[in-house]
Amino acid sequence: MKTIESLQNILRPSNWSEIVGQEVAVSVLSKQIAENKLKQAFLFCGGSGTGKTSAARVMCRQLNGEDGYPDEFDASRNSDIGSIRDLIESVKRVSLDQRYRVVIIDECHNLQNKSFDTLLKTLEEPPKHVIFILCTTEPDKIPNTIKTRCQRFDFYRVDKKTLADNIRYVCKTKLEKPIEDYAAKMIAESSDGSVRESLKLLEQCYDYGDLTEENVEKVLNKYSIKDLIELLRAFQEDNGTKAIEIQDRIVTKNHALVNVFDQLIRVILDLKRYYINRDVKNTMFTENPEINMDLNPYLEELMSYRTHVNQSTAEILFKKFAMGGKRHDI
Ligand SMILES: Nc1ncnc2c1ncn2[C@@H]1O[C@H](COP(=O)(O)OP(=O)(O)OP(=O)(O)O)[C@@H](O)[C@H]1O
Ligand SMILES: [Mg+2]
Repeated sequence: MKTIESLQNILRPSNWSEIVGQEVAVSVLSKQIAENKLKQAFLFCGGSGTGKTSAARVMCRQLNGEDGYPDEFDASRNSDIGSIRDLIESVKRVSLDQRYRVVIIDECHNLQNKSFDTLLKTLEEPPKHVIFILCTTEPDKIPNTIKTRCQRFDFYRVDKKTLADNIRYVCKTKLEKPIEDYAAKMIAESSDGSVRESLKLLEQCYDYGDLTEENVEKVLNKYSIKDLIELLRAFQEDNGTKAIEIQDRIVTKNHALVNVFDQLIRVILDLKRYYINRDVKNTMFTENPEINMDLNPYLEELMSYRTHVNQSTAEILFKKFAMGGKRHDI
C-alpha cells in the first residue's frame, strides 16, 4: 500500500508569511532576526496546532538558510536529568554546517524539576551559537525561574474567520478544488482555533468528495447552521409543525438529539456576539443572518437543561419548545 503525506505536513510553513495569525510573535521575531538583535531563549506557549513548532523551524531557516535544521528534543519522552545534561553537552559543540544551533524543546512542561534546574544556568547564559526555543501547551506548569529567563510568546487560537479564509486559500491554491462558503465556515467552527485541526478536517472532507455544505456536514457529523436558525425561527413564530419537521430532519441526518442542544447554544451565542459586537471574526456569520429575535429565553433554558438532559427528555423538550408560548411551563 502506498501512503501519502498528510496535508498538515505538506503545508508546514517555510517562511513567516505562511504562518496564519500569530501577528505578534511573527512581527517581533522577524524583526529581531532582520535587525540582528535576536534573543537566545524563548518560550512559545499556546494550544496544540497553532504554529509553535512551525515558527521555531522558520526561525531556524531564517538563521541558517533553506537547509537549516533544528535540534528537536521531545521532553515528553526525555524528561530526566540525564537526557537534558546530554542535550546541553551536545549543543555546546559548534555545528559544522550551520551558523546557529537552534534547539527546540517540545512539550517542555514535561521536564522533571531537576531537569529544569539543570537547564536554568545554560538558558541564562547560552553559548553564543545556541538559541533555545521551549514550546508548551501548558505554560502554567513551567517554573517561574525558567519563565523569567525566556522571552515569552503566546500563540493564540486562530479566529474562525481567519481559519475559514485559510481553508478557502488552501482549496484554491493547493487542492485546486472549490469549497462552498458554509462548508469552509463549518470546518473552521469545528477546529477550535487550531490550524492543524482545520487542515486535518479539510483533508478528511476532501477525501470524501466535493467540498459542498452537505458533504462537509456529513463528514463532520454537524447540523447545518441554516437548519438550526430555521429551527429558532420556527420557535419564534410558534410554528410547532415546522419546528418538529426541522427537528426530524436534523435527527434523521445525525444521531443524538441531545447534541442538538449544544449546537443550538453555540448558534445562539454566535448570534448574540454578532448582534452585540459585530464580532464577525469569531462567529459563523460574515453576512447578516437576517434573524432578529429575543434569544435570551432560549439560551437560558437550553443552558439549564444541558447537563441533565438525555435522549428521551430531549425529545419531550423539543416538542415543548416547538409549542412556543408554552415554553415556560416545561
Ligand atoms: N499558525 C499556523 N499557520 C499555518 N499553519 C499552521 C499554523 N499552526 C499550525 N499549522 C499547521 O499545523 C501543522 C502543525 O503545526 P505546529 O507543529 O506548528 O503546531 P504546534 O503549535 O507546535 O502544536 P503542538 O502543541 O501540538 O506541538 C503545521 O505543519 C501546519 O500545517
Ligand atoms: Mg509543536
